[in-house]
Amino acid sequence: MIVSVPEAITLIKHGDVVAIPTETVYGLAANAENSMAVRKIFTLKGRPADNPLIVHLSSPDQISRFTDFDSADLQRLTNAFWPGPLTLIVPKKKTVLDSITAGLDSVALRIPSHPYALKIIRQSGPVTAPSANRSGRPSPTKPEHIFADFGDTLPVVDGGECAIGIESTVLDLTSEQPVILRPGKYSAEDIGDILSKKVALSTSDFDHLSKSPGTRYTHYKPDAEIKWMSDDLMNKAEDEVLYVFHSGKADIQKLNVVDFNQDFDALGKALYDLYRTADAKKYTTIYIEPLPKLGKHPLLPALQNRIERSAGQ
Ligand code: TXA
Ligand code: MG
Repeated sequence: MIVSVPEAITLIKHGDVVAIPTETVYGLAANAENSMAVRKIFTLKGRPADNPLIVHLSSPDQISRFTDFDSADLQRLTNAFWPGPLTLIVPKKKTVLDSITAGLDSVALRIPSHPYALKIIRQSGPVTAPSANRSGRPSPTKPEHIFADFGDTLPVVDGGECAIGIESTVLDLTSEQPVILRPGKYSAEDIGDILSKKVALSTSDFDHLSKSPGTRYTHYKPDAEIKWMSDDLMNKAEDEVLYVFHSGKADIQKLNVVDFNQDFDALGKALYDLYRTADAKKYTTIYIEPLPKLGKHPLLPALQNRIERSAGQ
């Protein structure tokens, strides 16, 4: 059910879970300092207990409630990118709930930029907010996606369609060299420019698994199978199949063909909605045109990552 911002604040203060809009995807928000409330999130999502949550703040003053860590890098990044789609992993304070960090000694922090999220968190206090989907499903970018996963009894604040549509960049600051554990809107280059140092993008599965447990599980997956398009498929449009192009080469006269004409921001914003629309239409397969390997657009690594994961690669 749709609730107002003031209703959401009251519910969160009472220890309830409310879906709230952020600029990336909708999040399932609960009071980050109430262990019962945090546990409700895991039950509701069917989320494995060893997958840690991001704490969402409304102001950098709140950082010190969750970590004693401070550094020039942290200052530069929060000044440059917060509020916005960057999550920072820092050593946690002892007082941070174990359910949030899944027993790790680090905690994930971010300030979202959606005005409703900021307004809510300013008054409710910090919230943990995983993406508001059932575990394994694509992240929601519209309220209807949340109702599809949880039914309409779950309180949802309607903030419209999320502007970015792809989850935040997760950056690990606990080692000497900052490492991107999950690519997002801000790329290794964007972050490296601010820090004047090289930022690594974690590609090794081993690193990935040990550092960010969430990346181990199936993710972002609709019912339809996700496949990369091959050349021989590009010109034939079967029914019950969705074709997603971005090169501008598609014959978009057909209903089940979309083309983003090299606009990768638009593809990012629409991707999970296309996944869910295909499911609603009972399509069996979604073919996606392979992304340019040497493209310069900052969202390309994130799109490559999400599409590969949803294809089960
Ligand atoms: O854009 C976003 O980040 C969205 C919106 C709602 O803010 N939230 C989101 O949360 O994507 P979630 O729970 O779906 O993904 C959190 C990711 C997971 O991959 C998790 O493993 C990782 O962050 N993470 C959280 N705490 C971590 C930690 N202490 N160390 C390493 N990875 C961590
Ligand atoms: Mg998620």
